[in-house]
Amino acid sequence: MKIRTVGVIGSGLMGSGIAQVSAQAGCPTTILEVSKELLDKGMQRIQGFLDSGVDKGKLRPEARDRTLSLLKGTTEMKDLSECDLVIEAITENLSAKRDLFSAASKVCSEKSIFASNTSSLSITEIMTASSRPERFLGLHFFNPVPLMKLVEVVRTIVTQDEVESAALEFVRATGKTPIRTSDRTGFIVNRLLVPYILDAIRALENGVGSIEEIDAGMRLGCGYPMGPFTLLDFVGLDTTYYIAGIMFDEFKEARFAAPPLLKRMVLAGTLGRKSGKGFYDYSQDPPVPQNHLTA
Ligand code: 3HC
Repeated sequence: MKIRTVGVIGSGLMGSGIAQVSAQAGCPTTILEVSKELLDKGMQRIQGFLDSGVDKGKLRPEARDRTLSLLKGTTEMKDLSECDLVIEAITENLSAKRDLFSAASKVCSEKSIFASNTSSLSITEIMTASSRPERFLGLHFFNPVPLMKLVEVVRTIVTQDEVESAALEFVRATGKTPIRTSDRTGFIVNRLLVPYILDAIRALENGVGSIEEIDAGMRLGCGYPMGPFTLLDFVGLDTTYYIAGIMFDEFKEARFAAPPLLKRMVLAGTLGRKSGKGFYDYSQDPPVPQNHLTA
């Protein structure tokens, strides 16, 4: 079993990145979106990334053009019917994902492998809405997808070995390193990353150090590319809050509980880079740390 053609559902930040790396691996890739406007936005993001790669001398113009020629957009599910692999990257909502795979099961070839890019929902719970649990797995990419070198390949109790092997081979073809993991909430990376970034907020709440000092501590002391507050703003505070909630519900462990400051910031709409303000204010260059503790 070899994956040659790919369908990606959703052209947001993750979906467009996944479609890009799939096409860069030489796979004809079809992106499904709910509207032409969203599709255009996703395609523009890909084009922009590839163009900047050419400008930086990281990518040859021919490679960019070949990647773009392998990408197709659609708003019709039936256009994914012959894809060897269909990867879902829509919003983190269990019932929306289940509805999607139930619909995809009706139009896609029985041989198609289905994958979800969920970061925290149960692959098993999503899978049971599809017609092919044994051909279903998780493929968890990291943000920004074109630059991050890891993909978690998540098997369930019933995933066939040959399906997992085909997925591992596909991930390697994208130039990324797969790690195998089983279907436990948060998989490997978020199991370790989420308590770490929540602890950074608790350290701030406890007066251990300022935002810049805690960020500098982890960047310069541990060699992390971003400190925890820069990373929180990058991932989105709402996304982190949501993932922490799912992990806390599953494990009932205090280390997954969202600190009050995170909750207050999410409710107030300070979500990080996407809203212009989070732990830093991005209206200024360089971004300025925001002290919300006294508010
Ligand atoms: N095309 C090709 N290459 C490009 C490129 C482009 N358009 N843009 C940048 N690059 C290359 C650069 O040339 C550089 O290559 P080099 O290492 O060979 O010099 C490399 O990519 C890094 O690019 P930059 O120098 O522009 O950027 P930084 O060095 O500042 O790195 C970063 C940016 C990769 C985002 C880095 O800050 C990082 O790794 N941050 C951490 C991100 C992270 O932790 N992500 C995971 C989030 S958690 C998640 O996603 C899980 C979810 O479930 C929540």
